[in-house]
Amino acid sequence: MKVLICETAEKAVARAAELVIAQVRKKPDAVLGLATGGTMLPLYRKLCEACRQGAVSFAQSTTFNLDEYVGLAPDHPGSYHSYMREIFFDQTDIDLGRTHLPRGDCADPASECQRYEALIAASGGIDLQLLGIGQNGHIGFNEPTSSLGSRTRIKTLSHSTRLANAGHFGVIDAMPRHALTMGIGTILDARQCILLATGQSKAAAVASMIEGPVSAGCPASALQLHPAMTAVLDAEAASDLT
Ligand code: F6R
Repeated sequence: MKVLICETAEKAVARAAELVIAQVRKKPDAVLGLATGGTMLPLYRKLCEACRQGAVSFAQSTTFNLDEYVGLAPDHPGSYHSYMREIFFDQTDIDLGRTHLPRGDCADPASECQRYEALIAASGGIDLQLLGIGQNGHIGFNEPTSSLGSRTRIKTLSHSTRLANAGHFGVIDAMPRHALTMGIGTILDARQCILLATGQSKAAAVASMIEGPVSAGCPASALQLHPAMTAVLDAEAASDLT
């Protein structure tokens, strides 16, 4: 694993954005795996800005998001479909027809997960997977104890993950209890992974990911096995590394 430690969160975000832009410039029809969450907001801002300035075009890119909450229709304000449209898709030249997220409002989650895996395979696989990390070491919504070989499936969200994300739903009771998420095996199939982590609250999870044993107790530790994985950290997120 390559580890890039930047002085500030702003510099870490700029570095991660450069890596994404370099990939899309090299291969304009790249297949991108996308993440959501607070850490990604400034990164998407940078990508939108670069697109507006003509420094990169996403017109030929295909995207697959990591996850979506079960039970939420794409137009629900708390859905990741809404997040992606508002924060990234609607502000770039991306072709919405090439953007994909699992459907949280599907009637049959098991077949939706199979459909999603098949669609990723039919697109030629993911060239670059963008990742954040949960305070409990999750990637996507692969919570601790997830199988390291898992594929896209339905997962129960941990209490800490529901607490961390409840803000978007007003009260924790309104927050979904399940998500459809790419599995750890799905993520490891990507040709390149970039994980962005900023802030002190991620320091313990980052240390387990990089220096801990490869274990389902810290799902992100599976990334130690990936041959082209880069962790982009700010000084706070790196502060528990030895
Ligand atoms: C969401 C996702 C999650 C987040 C993680 C960190 O698509 O993949 O794994 O990356 O929960 O979220 P923030 O950045 O909000 O701390």
